[in-house]
Amino acid sequence: MALQEEQKKILCVGLVCLDIISVVDKFPQEDSDSRCLSQRWQRGGNASNSCTVLSLLGSPCAFMGSLCAGPVASFIADDFLRRSIDISAVAWQTTGQTPSACCVVCPSSASRTVLLADTNIAEVTLDDFNAVDLSAFKWIHWEGRNADEQVKMITRVERYNQTVAPERMIVVSVEIEKPREKLYQLFDRADVVFVSKDVARHLGFQTPTCALRGLRPRLRPGAVLICAWAEKGADAADADGTLLHSDAFPPERVLDTLGAGDTFNAAVIHKLARGRPLQEALTFGCRVAGAKCGFHGYDDIAHTGLI
Ligand code: FRU
Repeated sequence: MALQEEQKKILCVGLVCLDIISVVDKFPQEDSDSRCLSQRWQRGGNASNSCTVLSLLGSPCAFMGSLCAGPVASFIADDFLRRSIDISAVAWQTTGQTPSACCVVCPSSASRTVLLADTNIAEVTLDDFNAVDLSAFKWIHWEGRNADEQVKMITRVERYNQTVAPERMIVVSVEIEKPREKLYQLFDRADVVFVSKDVARHLGFQTPTCALRGLRPRLRPGAVLICAWAEKGADAADADGTLLHSDAFPPERVLDTLGAGDTFNAAVIHKLARGRPLQEALTFGCRVAGAKCGFHGYDDIAHTGLI
């Protein structure tokens, strides 16, 4: 029997890694040997973090990315399951290493510094994606990575959408976070595009409004462009070109900004996937991401009173 629309999941495709997070009172000097305030293992990666937040907000979701069986992958898989995130689409690689990152979180300067090792494992391919039953999903989000292959996966969704009734069509979103030429081919392949401040600046836009105006022509007609700008909040261009803004909602004390962008994306998608207006989604994204910066990790999102 066909799934009802509200039972359908949001699928996030992209990176999962192990984050080994050291919280420090002062960023360490090179070639020094010091103690950190605390250290923890946390499942990371943009698409994986967005799944965490979607799940905490109450959106059923699934993750697709590469893992290679072993103790690190077991830690990660257990954590996905703890959050009820469906990992049946994970591409289990038989060679390589599950990605990991050393992360230094420094509350006194509100910084998060990441050193990622993710090149020793194959990326998700079209073949992997072809095995996914698209009828289970209402929304698929791609974290821009191996864009040549991701474009082929999106093409599969576009073809699928041509065969179903409008209410069963899958919404496609993409995140273009890194200033890499290859990723820019994703601009015109989605209904909703998240572009980072970093990419916007790299392409010569110094303010969110300039970025929206300048980048919108790269999108296909009727697509939505969203650009978060740290403490300046976030801006968006609606399908008809209307420009929208939300201020940021910084916490009293910034503790942990790691994954704040992934939190923003998830909160926006959570609202849009429920048919809420873009302005509401944008403001909600800023609220949840702001609140997240006030605590370590993601668990306390459940206690923010925002859900
Ligand atoms: C946060 C994050 C971390 C990961 C890093 C990878 O956005 O996904 O969890 O270590 O970025 O670039």
